[in-house]
Amino acid sequence: MPVRDADETSGAPSAAGHQAAAPEDGNTRHVPVMLRRCLDLLAPALAEPGAVVVDCTLGLGGHSEALLATFPAARLVALDRDKEALRLSGERLARHGDRATLVHAVYDELPEVLDRLGIPRVQGVLFDLGVSSMQLDEAGRGFAYAQDAPLDMRMDQTTGISAAEVLNTYAPGDLVRILRAYGEEKQARRIVSAVVDERAKEPFTTSARLVEVIRDALPQAAKRTGGNPAKRTFQALRIEVNGELSVLERAIPAAVASLAVGGRLAVLSYHSLEDRLVKQVLAAGAASTAPPGLPVVPERYQPRLKLLTRGAELPTEEEVAENRRAAPARLRGAQRIREEHQE
Ligand SMILES: C[S@@+](CC[C@H](N)C(=O)[O-])C[C@H]1O[C@@H](n2cnc3c(N)ncnc32)[C@H](O)[C@@H]1O
Repeated sequence: MPVRDADETSGAPSAAGHQAAAPEDGNTRHVPVMLRRCLDLLAPALAEPGAVVVDCTLGLGGHSEALLATFPAARLVALDRDKEALRLSGERLARHGDRATLVHAVYDELPEVLDRLGIPRVQGVLFDLGVSSMQLDEAGRGFAYAQDAPLDMRMDQTTGISAAEVLNTYAPGDLVRILRAYGEEKQARRIVSAVVDERAKEPFTTSARLVEVIRDALPQAAKRTGGNPAKRTFQALRIEVNGELSVLERAIPAAVASLAVGGRLAVLSYHSLEDRLVKQVLAAGAASTAPPGLPVVPERYQPRLKLLTRGAELPTEEEVAENRRAAPARLRGAQRIREEHQE
């Protein structure tokens, strides 16, 4: 199956194609989170022949594979910014032939990708945010604080700056801001002060040294709560390196805009910052924009979205027992119920 680059979605297979056989079977490395519920949320929109569903976070293709198998009349467009994920999933989904189009893209590029593919509107969009099991498990990617590895953390290793560069070059004030905003780290100042002292001696290159510096910097009381003390700093660096929140802030409205009336969106988030952002966009779409006091709300002020989930839905205890990576998941869904009003 050809993998396309975002800027050549209507062209020939790109050099990112996966001619080489993938030795790993994606199937054994990742259990798709809240799969049944995601499929149920999207199902009413995907039964008709010609329906298009976009998986904005292909990863190892678990959700995509299930979408193709469950909705035989639907076509899949799947994006990932990680070329290795596209290569592995390409192998996995090859049996579906041209029902699946895989594209190397950041998900806020969705409008351009659909444009190039000549798809004006879609019936379903799925986001399964965050990092994949493959990215976490492969020590060399530098996402995991439990393994010593180069501090990289780029989902797309062909572009951007690494976590080591962030740590070694950002001004202390910026590091404090990032740790607070993206890691919700209460001890940000202490950690950054230790990092700045250490990087003056020798730049950071690997995760183990950073973990050690964080451990040494924290007071005993802070080490007793909240799991591994490096967890929040690693989350913050990862979000910064990949620009995760700003990309998501553009991508969710773009996904809503790409939905045909009746089309459905499902979003799985893994931390409160992502979930808050998704919640805000969906709640705004589901609210009337009418000025208060109108006796009858004209069409142009009426909501574009209907929420399909009450608050965020959580995985069941059974699912978490089987797959601990599902534990922080929060699922929200919405349906497009109205066109944008044209003045
Ligand atoms: C949690 S995994 C998805 C797992 C997938 N649902 C499965 O069942 O195998 C998230 C994937 O989204 C990709 N990703 C994260 N942020 C992205 C972005 N802004 N644009 C495109 N892909 C992104 C990551 O590279 C990763 O492969």
